[in-house]
Amino acid sequence: MTMTLKNLSPGGLLQLILLLVTLHYRVGEAVNSEGIALQDFKQRLDDPVGALSNWNDSDITPCNWKGIVCQNLTNVVISINLPSRNLSGIVSPQLANLKYLEQLKLHNNNFCGKLPEPFSNLTNLRVLNLRKNAFSGYIAPSLGMLKNLRIMELANNKLEGPIPESFGSLVTHLKYFNVSNNQLSGKVPEEVLRRFNGSSYLGNANLCGVSGVGLSPCTPSPALAPASEPSLPLRPHTSSLSLVQIILMSVGLFLAFKFGIAVLLILRWMRKDTDIEISLGAGGKIVMFQGGHGVAPTSREILRAMRLIRKKHIIGEGGYGVVYKLELKDHPPMAIKKLKACLESARSFENELDTLGTVKHRNLVKLRGFCSSPSVKLLIYDFLPGGNLDQLLHGEKMEKDFVVDWPIRYRIALGVARGLAYLHHGCAPRIIHGDVSSSNILLDTEFEPYLSDFGLAKLVTANDTHVSVTVGGTLGYVAPEFAKSGKATEKVDVYSYGVILLELLSGRRAVDESLSDEYANLAGWVRDLHSNGKATEAIDEYLRETVAGVDLDLLLEVAYHCISLNPHDRPQMNKVVETLEIFTETGYSPSGTSARTSHADPSKPLASDIPGFRPIGSYFIFDT
Ligand SMILES: Nc1ncnc2c1ncn2[C@@H]1O[C@H](COP(=O)(O)OP(=O)(O)O)[C@@H](O)[C@H]1O
Ligand SMILES: *[C@@H]1O[C@H](CO)[C@@H](O)[C@H](O)[C@H]1NC(C)=O
Ligand SMILES: *[C@@H]1O[C@H](CO)[C@@H](O)[C@H](O)[C@H]1NC(C)=O
Ligand SMILES: *[C@@H]1O[C@H](CO)[C@@H](O)[C@H](O)[C@H]1NC(C)=O
Ligand SMILES: *[C@@H]1O[C@H](CO)[C@@H](O)[C@H](O)[C@H]1NC(C)=O
Ligand SMILES: *[C@@H]1O[C@H](CO)[C@@H](O)[C@H](O)[C@H]1NC(C)=O
Ligand SMILES: *[C@@H]1O[C@H](CO)[C@@H](O)[C@H](O)[C@H]1NC(C)=O
Ligand SMILES: [Mg+2]
Repeated sequence: MTMTLKNLSPGGLLQLILLLVTLHYRVGEAVNSEGIALQDFKQRLDDPVGALSNWNDSDITPCNWKGIVCQNLTNVVISINLPSRNLSGIVSPQLANLKYLEQLKLHNNNFCGKLPEPFSNLTNLRVLNLRKNAFSGYIAPSLGMLKNLRIMELANNKLEGPIPESFGSLVTHLKYFNVSNNQLSGKVPEEVLRRFNGSSYLGNANLCGVSGVGLSPCTPSPALAPASEPSLPLRPHTSSLSLVQIILMSVGLFLAFKFGIAVLLILRWMRKDTDIEISLGAGGKIVMFQGGHGVAPTSREILRAMRLIRKKHIIGEGGYGVVYKLELKDHPPMAIKKLKACLESARSFENELDTLGTVKHRNLVKLRGFCSSPSVKLLIYDFLPGGNLDQLLHGEKMEKDFVVDWPIRYRIALGVARGLAYLHHGCAPRIIHGDVSSSNILLDTEFEPYLSDFGLAKLVTANDTHVSVTVGGTLGYVAPEFAKSGKATEKVDVYSYGVILLELLSGRRAVDESLSDEYANLAGWVRDLHSNGKATEAIDEYLRETVAGVDLDLLLEVAYHCISLNPHDRPQMNKVVETLEIFTETGYSPSGTSARTSHADPSKPLASDIPGFRPIGSYFIFDT
């Protein structure tokens, strides 16, 4: 049908214009900005019962979506009401864009992660009900700024740390407040306690304060406590028993006590050993990736072996969970990591792992597969028999006169750099490790290093304990800008790599209380030494004596650049690799001893030619 504007009646023309306008409206603005925020909320969740299935992003407003209530005239969202919908995952910080939100009711679900800090922007919020979820971490003081809040229900979660002082002004207009059954600690702020002295704090063992129900008094002073009174009758002069009798009685009691403990321990041990460590529950799946050396074990084989895993197979525990060794009949052993952390959603978990499964490099621990079930998430890796770098450098082996020689250290430095460079520059999409630390560098029997846990930082919302930021603001491996913003970039990895390099060069831990009064962290200490022109003092004395010093100074300079406070001053990992490889090019091979052959070939690059690296002080990088 051909139709020109000429033979249209005025009515038809109007209709056409209306049609065009509506079309434009539909195409141009699929859903309004509040809808976009809510779609992000949905994206990050697991919704096993389809509670959000009618959240269709081709609607213009979210007002007809289940659980959403809008104001009638303006169509702004004023309530999110999704209790008991079996939802899990983290709550999108984008909800802070719902400026007119008055009620947020998500109780009886399985939400996890921290309480999103941007919630403090929801200045119209009147009801916040998050009871009975798995929220964890500290309560942000900024939540105390919710001026219109009337009901704050946080009971039955896993919240830690103190009740912020800022809640003092919050509670003055609050009608209901409950933080029972969390893991809060410290003193309840006085104003909060004055306003709510009833059963608002039950089941927080380390929370204290005067006069609240279920609270113990703070700072119980042992000198004032009358608890020492009952022991008085045992004193010889107040009792008719002889000294010998008392001693015999005490010995008898002591032995009976020990015996009781032993029986308990044995019982517990017997029970534990028969405990099944990994139970998949119903409806899980195991995905094994192909590739890698040898034939991959089948899911069935993995499943069979997994049933035999017991407590004794635990090889380590870290921020992400417990790691087990999995013995297989016809294949080399594997390592299974049981994630305890809070996941954004199972869907994004699987997508992300499909990507990580394709990553293959000599210096990266191969991800062999994963297992995803509602109750448990497992990662299956190649097993590395040589322990981790932290144990190698700072573990017990050192005490038994086991010295980690320079060729080993160099091999590790180069291998780790290559692994990271591959993640940053050799992968599509590029991968940011996000958690480079010496405990994430695993070794084989030849001391070849393998980076583990790459990409997990993005996947798992880190719990508070994992990032090693201590109270004084001391940082081990974490770049300062990352600690502030939480935004991971390649340069964050480069910083952590610099700390690893310093660990290898100095033999010290990333966080070492003995360094100086000012700096408990290695990076700060070295930066300080460097600014005083004494950087070489950072190098391990043993290394300085056994290796010709000039090589180490270049490496120290590389490390110094990596730990620059300004991310832009840090080199890229492929640049670092290039620099480290100079040593192999000039005959300084990782497997050789410190045989520094003369620099015969003048066409080979000098370290000082590489942009960003200058020799320290008056040292020459390559003397002839
Ligand atoms: N693939 C593996 N092979 C051998 N040991 C491993 C493997 N993965 C982890 N481990 C051991 O388990 C420990 C705990 O691992 P992880 O949960 O990653 O915590 P973290 O890295 O914080 O130490 C590691 O330090 C390491 O010693
Ligand atoms: C969303 O709505 C559009 C039209 O309004 C429809 O074509 C589409 O099938 C819906 N999608 C879902 C997932 O319901
Ligand atoms: C919106 O209108 C409906 C019916 O017109 C009414 O029942 C409802 O209470 C109104 N909601 C608000 C928030 O005003
Ligand atoms: C929600 O989860 C609980 C326990 O996990 C289960 O018993 C219940 O049937 C689930 N609800 C629905 C609607 O699937
Ligand atoms: C929250 O409020 C602060 C300060 O008022 C502002 O800087 C920030 O951008 C807001 N965040 C969101 C997500 O609206
Ligand atoms: C307990 O709370 C009530 C009202 O919330 C208040 O009137 C009373 O003074 C409080 N008691 C103490 C000891 O603070
Ligand atoms: C707070 O929650 C706990 C646990 O559910 C409950 O026992 C207690 O009565 C509640 N307190 C108030 C003041 O409602
Ligand atoms: Mg690890």
